[in-house]
Amino acid sequence: MRRPILAGNWKMYKTPLETTAFFEKFRPLVADATHADIVICPPFVNLPAAADATRGTNIEVGGQNLYWANEGAYTGEVSAGMLRAAGCQWVIVAHSERREYFGETEETAFKKLCAALDAGLKPIYCVGERLHEHESNQTHEVLGRQLRGCVGYLTPEQFRGITVAYEPVWAIGTGKVATPEIASAAHSFIRDYIRRQFGAGAAEACRILYGGSVKADNIGGLMAEDQIDGALVGGASLDPVSFASIVNF
Ligand code: 13P
Repeated sequence: MRRPILAGNWKMYKTPLETTAFFEKFRPLVADATHADIVICPPFVNLPAAADATRGTNIEVGGQNLYWANEGAYTGEVSAGMLRAAGCQWVIVAHSERREYFGETEETAFKKLCAALDAGLKPIYCVGERLHEHESNQTHEVLGRQLRGCVGYLTPEQFRGITVAYEPVWAIGTGKVATPEIASAAHSFIRDYIRRQFGAGAAEACRILYGGSVKADNIGGLMAEDQIDGALVGGASLDPVSFASIVNF
C-alpha cells in the first residue's frame, strides 16, 4: 500500500499573516489525520510563517520551485539548501505554469530534481498534457516525452526519492476535473514507464498524484482508484476547511 499524499500548491496567493491565519484554522482540522502525508507549498516569502505554524505537527512544508546551483549570482532564485534551511521537506518541480510562463524544460527540471535530492528534499515532478494535446489524443506522447527527457536520466536510487504528479493542463483552474477513469489511465501509463525504466519494485512504490480542479466533492472518486495515490491541489487548498475535507477524504 502506498501512503497517500495530499499536497496544496498555493501558487502566488497569501501573505505571511494570511499564512499564519490559515494554519490556525487548518491545524486542528487535520490533527487526527494519520493516513496521509499532508503538505503545503506556499510562496517563498511565507515559508518562515508556514514552518513556524507547522512545527511539531503532522503537516509538512514545501517550495514551489528552486534553482539548481547551491548559491551564487542568480538574482531572484532560491536554492535547495535554502529551502531546507527554511523548513521545507518537499519541492514542486516543473509545474505546468513554470513550463508555460518561465521556460521550464525537461532539461532544467532534471537539474532541479538532482539538486533537490542532493539537499534531502522530496521533489514532486509535474507532468501533463495541454488541451489541444488532450483533444488530439497526444497525452501518452507528451507524458512519454516529459518522463524520458527528465526522469529517464535519474539513477534508480535517485528515482526512489521522487513523487510524480499528473496534472492535465486543461483541468487546472478550469473546474474541469479529469474523470477518475481518465486520470487513472494516465497514471497507469506513467507507472508502466517507471516499470520499464526502473523495474517493478520502483513502479509499485512510486506515488503518483493527480492535480487539476480537485475539490472536496471529487477527491473521494479520485482516491477510490488504486492508481491514484493522492492529489496536488491548487485553488481548494487556499481555504482551510475545504483543504481539510480533501485531506480527510
Ligand atoms: P487547481 O486545483 O486550482 O485546478 O490547480 C491545480 C494545480 O495546478 C496544482 O498544482
